[in-house]
Amino acid sequence: MTATASKPMIDKGLASTIAAESAMSYIDGEKGVLEYVGIDIDDLARNSTFEETVYLLWHLRLPTKSELETFSQQIRAEYELPEPMWDLIGNLPKTASPMHAIRTLISALALHDPEADVHSPEANTRKGIRILAKTPALIANFDRHRKGLDFIKPDKSMDMATAFLTMLNGEKPTDTMAKALDVCLILHADHGFNASTFASLVTISTLSDMYSAVTTAVGTLKGPLHGGANEAVMHTLKELNDVSEVEDWVKGKLERKERIMGFGHRVYKAYDPRATYLKTFAKQLAEDTGNQKLYEMSSRIEEIMDEAVGSKGIYPNVDFYSATSYYAIGLDIDLFTPMFVLARNAGWVGHCIEYLEGNKLIRPRCEYTGPHKAPYVPINER
Ligand code: SDX
Repeated sequence: MTATASKPMIDKGLASTIAAESAMSYIDGEKGVLEYVGIDIDDLARNSTFEETVYLLWHLRLPTKSELETFSQQIRAEYELPEPMWDLIGNLPKTASPMHAIRTLISALALHDPEADVHSPEANTRKGIRILAKTPALIANFDRHRKGLDFIKPDKSMDMATAFLTMLNGEKPTDTMAKALDVCLILHADHGFNASTFASLVTISTLSDMYSAVTTAVGTLKGPLHGGANEAVMHTLKELNDVSEVEDWVKGKLERKERIMGFGHRVYKAYDPRATYLKTFAKQLAEDTGNQKLYEMSSRIEEIMDEAVGSKGIYPNVDFYSATSYYAIGLDIDLFTPMFVLARNAGWVGHCIEYLEGNKLIRPRCEYTGPHKAPYVPINER
């Protein structure tokens, strides 16, 4: 359908719509480039930390040493949960999916924040820090609750990745594992107007609050076409028993026009640069943790997909190799997407604050296809 002066075009899925400007992430889908405020994602993954990356995304520049120290202290000062949150975690059904649990828990944080409905940029930044800083304790302690383990409070002497893994496993992680998770958080921190980020903007554009906007985003990220794909990838890998089964499995899915999770992207028609980094990472982590077979199956799936659909611009996306990486770090499969929440809090909060600077209510049009001037027929005559 083509647009005319009087009749705007229907852009299904908003694939060709630019909804607003942002200085946070640059994505070149044809070349497979991702930059956070102009810095290539590969440089950040190799040299930065998640805390520094959050500062970069929120302030649109790298921090000085003292600015980073102050920011880090602000985050760690907010690690602790309001007391009633521990009761809430302890009363959640042990069988609840972690994504339902974290969506509920982040939403509940608003009940204990006196600034929940204060809308200044400063208050929004403070709320953003609270959400970012408290999510690790929420996820880790829900997992401990569902396993019948005692709660562990966050340790303010640790960075977020280390503090999270310590709470989750009841012991400090190795530097390698903590670094591995920190890099994954950097790679997942932001990505333009992906579905969950855009969803958060729809909410914040009504001048609702940061907790409501992030809750919207968590619910949106959950879907397997978006953040839920990393769990779906792992279930696929667990379903396959051997590399020899891969070719028939992939070809069968494609013949049935079924999606192979972890492949394809709305923007990237080249290799997702995050997948490039994660592939190398997953290989090393798999070797270090005795999960080579998972990596071998992943790379075999990639080979078959490349032969079959590479020419259509369908390549691995961030979720394909993050699955093997998270598994090698020792995370339960249903904690993979909550990891995405932990990281993407950075992008959701940053975009909400940025969008509010020139806020415009987000409210697209709908092309009506129903009848007109229809009579109201009394129920006895229908
Ligand atoms: C994330 O947007 C972001 O930035 C998201 C994200 C972020 O950081 O926030 O990058 C994170 O969500 C990554 C994507 C994770 N999702 C998956 O891995 C799920 C599997 N992928 C697909 O469902 C799909 O690729 C989407 C949903 C991601 C994008 O699909 P589009 O842009 O809507 O394109 P489409 O579904 O119309 O597919 C176009 C063609 C179709 O073939 P034809 O009907 O034209 O013949 O490509 C085919 C599709 O069948 N195709 C696939 C495929 N993905 C697309 N075929 C097989 N397997 C796939 N995975």
